[in-house]
Amino acid sequence: MPVISGLEDVIAAESSICKVDGEKGRLIYRGYDIDDLAEHSTYEEVVYLLWFGQLPVRNELDRLYKELGASRKLPQPVINAMKNFPKEAVPMEVLRTVASMLSMYDPEAEDMSPEANQRKAIRLTAQTATIVTAFHRIRSGNDVVAPRADLSHAGNFAYMLNGTPPNETITKALDIALILHADHEWNASTFAARVTAATLSDIYSAVTSGIGALKGPLHGGANEAVMRMLLEINDPSKVDDYVRNLFAQKKKIMGFGHRVYHTEDPRATHLRRMSKEACERAGQAKWYQMSARIEEIVKADKKLNPNVDFYSASTYYVSGMPIDLFTPFFAVSRMSGWTAHVLEQYSNNRLIRPRAEYTGPAPDLKWVPLTAR
Ligand code: COA
Repeated sequence: MPVISGLEDVIAAESSICKVDGEKGRLIYRGYDIDDLAEHSTYEEVVYLLWFGQLPVRNELDRLYKELGASRKLPQPVINAMKNFPKEAVPMEVLRTVASMLSMYDPEAEDMSPEANQRKAIRLTAQTATIVTAFHRIRSGNDVVAPRADLSHAGNFAYMLNGTPPNETITKALDIALILHADHEWNASTFAARVTAATLSDIYSAVTSGIGALKGPLHGGANEAVMRMLLEINDPSKVDDYVRNLFAQKKKIMGFGHRVYHTEDPRATHLRRMSKEACERAGQAKWYQMSARIEEIVKADKKLNPNVDFYSASTYYVSGMPIDLFTPFFAVSRMSGWTAHVLEQYSNNRLIRPRAEYTGPAPDLKWVPLTAR
């Protein structure tokens, strides 16, 4: 059998959650186009859609709001442990560790019934936002802000991060960003989560695998790398030289390229507009202008399009989000997608176990005792 490097275009299973049309540049959650969802929906509606397969009616949405709101608090021993973490810890390390730790404080952790797993999906989605913001408060020497049940997922994230009532414009932008990042078919982190779930390990183990995969700069970690690049360039007149220098060194430009999209990533279309609006509103138009110029050069020279991580970087930066929380914020959204996939995996499970083409020594070596080697 031929080796398919990076499993490119391999269809590993059936899934009814998300469709990525790489030729047309469309992203579909359960039949709904991401453009419609970004324009008209809220993150909570999208979470319901991903988990239950249809948009909620009023009382279903109200119930989900209530359940998410009631599930946001972290167990006190977990907060205490976080206070003992090194202040310099990378927030994605913290998220990976604490998501795993939560299972030890969940009496339902080992209950594999669909009902218990659905309840855990709600708790994990609610608590991910609390983990990220609580660690940021702790490392900055501030008190952890108790979550508010009356706020949306986006509004409560901003509230717990800053400790002040959330600004409506920023909350709306964060809400759209959450919608855009909620799911993306069998991407690397979702695949990792599903591989773990497919061994019938628990949902905490599965999402911990997902968080680990998301952290890498070829996946979710790219949004932080994009902002570090923009800060390093800093001056719009230096963009051209900087990018051409990266080309000359054959280095990748973070935030560009995609395994599946051969045209514009539809999420980037929204984020480009959001970045322009947010940067101009914040009086920091230069980050958008520099990004737009980088896009021009990379498109012209390499025929590569920006992906979800390119314009999200400047959008988050001018909203005041610390750079090393960009990828954790991606996870705050994607937790709903990961858990939807894990629930789907459990509902129709088969162990995921591919093969490798062996390229080691011929299998006729004779074992030699240590003293004779
Ligand atoms: N900058 C410059 N060149 C790039 C590039 C980028 N961001 N992305 C891909 N390429 C080039 C590669 O160098 C390679 O060129 P070659 O054939 O001459 O060697 C070709 O395009 C194919 O790239 P490859 O890395 O094999 O594609 P992939 O499908 O394995 O990887 C990504 C997809 C997303 C990992 C890749 O585009 C990338 O590393 N992008 C930057 C990181 C990023 O933004 N990740 C977030 C993804 S949402």
